[in-house]
Amino acid sequence: MNNKIAFITGATSGIGATFAKVLASQKYDLVITGRREEKIQAFAAELRSKNNIKVEVIIAELANVKDIDMLVEKITNIKNLEILINNAGFAKKGSRFYEENITVYEDMLKVHALATIKLTQAALPTMVTNNIGSIINVSSIMSFFPCARQSIYVATKAFISLFTESIALELKGTGVRVQALCPGLTFSDLHERIGVDVEKLAKKRVWLWQSPMHSKVVVDKSFKYLAKGKIICVPGFFNKVIITLHYLRRLF
Ligand SMILES: NC(=O)c1ccc[n+]([C@@H]2O[C@H](COP(=O)([O-])OP(=O)(O)OC[C@H]3O[C@@H](n4cnc5c(N)ncnc54)[C@H](OP(=O)(O)O)[C@@H]3O)[C@@H](O)[C@H]2O)c1
Repeated sequence: MNNKIAFITGATSGIGATFAKVLASQKYDLVITGRREEKIQAFAAELRSKNNIKVEVIIAELANVKDIDMLVEKITNIKNLEILINNAGFAKKGSRFYEENITVYEDMLKVHALATIKLTQAALPTMVTNNIGSIINVSSIMSFFPCARQSIYVATKAFISLFTESIALELKGTGVRVQALCPGLTFSDLHERIGVDVEKLAKKRVWLWQSPMHSKVVVDKSFKYLAKGKIICVPGFFNKVIITLHYLRRLF
């Protein structure tokens, strides 16, 4: 492997796959994780042949603590890790909090929160020692809002954002940067998996959503903000306005 290694969870499709494409074009060797084996292996082969880089695929179910720990061990042993992107995540079709099966929430806590904590903790000692590294934790615009029927999704995303902002304080003075990426509605497989039409959703809830973004726009913004050292990245002007209005309403 060459010197630049990026580790991306949930790179089978959507935002994670776009991060992988952009980093591959910058000649990073990649370690990518996912569950849809055939799809991610085909994607990895395409990345290798187009970019002449090394791509390792790890099949991991992050709702399974053993799989998280397997990734922890892998990350701990990559002594030239430059970028970690905790991106894997999922949504559930909305149901009332008290009517949903508790295992769904346990899985969400593991995938969104526990995996992010453990993988970040595994990566930081190496990055701090090397005095170089970036960690992007994929949160959501929904981390700023309460949302009926999505209480645990928004709460776990809020966890990711605040966790990331807090460790950023501890990393001041080191060469390590962290970011909580908070995209608004983005084209990916996330909504389709739960039978939601993204375009229709955007039309129905215009007060909250702007037009869905393409993941390339989201990823480009993320890197732009990372270069500036900004911790919270909300792609899209309209998304920023909506968050500001919400906080003004909440406080006054
Ligand atoms: N799309 C949006 O509108 C939007 C907005 C804000 C934030 N986000 C966040 O962006 C991140 C990426 O999502 P996306 O929109 O790009 O969706 P996506 O296309 O469905 O990609 C999600 C990725 O996460 C992996 N993943 C999901 N559940 C997993 C689990 N239990 N264990 C291991 N891997 C798992 C998937 O793996 P397999 O496909 O191989 O199963 C896939 O690679 C998520 O954290 C999501 O919450 C999305």
